[in-house]
Amino acid sequence: MKKNILVTGGAGFIGSHVVRLLVNEHPEYKIVNLDKLTYAGNLSNLNDIAGKPNYTFIKGDICDVTLISSVITTHDISHIIHLAAESHVDRSILNPLEFIQTNVLGTATLLDAAIKAWSGNMEEKLFYHISTDEVFGSLGSMGYFSETTPYNPHSPYSASKASSDHLVRAYHDTFGLPVVLSNCSNNFGSHQFPEKLIPLMIDHIRNNKPLPVYGKGENVRDWLWVEDHAKAISAVLHKGKNGHTYCIGGNNEWKNIDLVKTLCAVLDVKLERRPGTSEKLIAYVTDRPGHDARYAIDASKIQNELGWSPTPDFKWALEKTVDWYLANDAWLTEVTSGEYRKYYEAQYANR
Ligand code: NAD
Ligand code: TYD
Repeated sequence: MKKNILVTGGAGFIGSHVVRLLVNEHPEYKIVNLDKLTYAGNLSNLNDIAGKPNYTFIKGDICDVTLISSVITTHDISHIIHLAAESHVDRSILNPLEFIQTNVLGTATLLDAAIKAWSGNMEEKLFYHISTDEVFGSLGSMGYFSETTPYNPHSPYSASKASSDHLVRAYHDTFGLPVVLSNCSNNFGSHQFPEKLIPLMIDHIRNNKPLPVYGKGENVRDWLWVEDHAKAISAVLHKGKNGHTYCIGGNNEWKNIDLVKTLCAVLDVKLERRPGTSEKLIAYVTDRPGHDARYAIDASKIQNELGWSPTPDFKWALEKTVDWYLANDAWLTEVTSGEYRKYYEAQYANR
């Protein structure tokens, strides 16, 4: 069936992969990408599909209720995939209110515009909210997050995402809005802003800069290749059950320090350095306040019910990612100029 899909935040890291997948795989759909183009949004992420007839870009803010209502009506939007967010934990510690504004008020604005535009006819409509496993808090050395794990967020980022998840469920329960949600683990891949661990380390290794590992580097993350996440999002969009949540993960846990050392070894080979050269750049720095110890997802619901599973070859996906950053020097230089420099100085100056 034809769908007119509004993707919010489609010029960002995950959003651009989702937009590319849907535009290429569904020429019969209309994909409208609405993005404010903050420091994290970059239209060049979508150069390869920008001219396709089933794709439209609109520069705009999800907090702008007049604009959102008009976009839903003008483009006869039937589905919303909501990815737009402030997404970096360290920034949420430096500036929490920006996260409340975009992640909480922005999501509320979208939900409200959706029920008003769709009032009286919720058939064939869907609000798909993209969330994070960070809403569940922090695990000890055992156990996994699943769809039934209670919420226990610790950072302003995760608290703002938890708040938006609750609003989505409240609009479902109160107003009958058809919704699905997914909570995903840490993503990596091409086009990720180099403030996040993997692209930051690749950039620093390549440029012989210190590799800032927080605390002892023992925190654990479950890493998922972004192209697997985009496929999972497509599976939930097409086959997810109204009102349900799906946890998405890579079944791929790494201690930060082990992952950083692996990246060093991969880059030693690619940059033709002697084995062990890049590891010498590792610099342990002051820990992140409230740093969650471990995230890990039990993804059996989406695997069993929707038939999705991640690529089993993490090393292959990691090497592909490293190759992309090495081949896209101009992209890295462009996104790390300007505003990013100010953030970088504030974040790493006194650690
Ligand atoms: P990102 O920071 O790379 O991109 C966010 C995008 O949203 C940018 O293009 C930005 O311009 C846009 N945006 C920000 N504020 C906006 C506003 N007010 N109006 C319109 N657009 C706005 O983020 P990402 O890593 O691609 O994450 C996308 C979504 O996935 C987020 O909701 C995030 O919480 C969630 N998520 C991310 C990860 C991860 O590992 N990156 C994991 C799980 C869930
Ligand atoms: P990040 O990519 O910011 O994702 P999140 O905090 O959402 O999990 O960080 C991943 C892990 O890497 C996290 O435990 C914090 C750590 N980290 C560092 O050790 N050094 C860094 O410079 C960054 C950005 C992160």
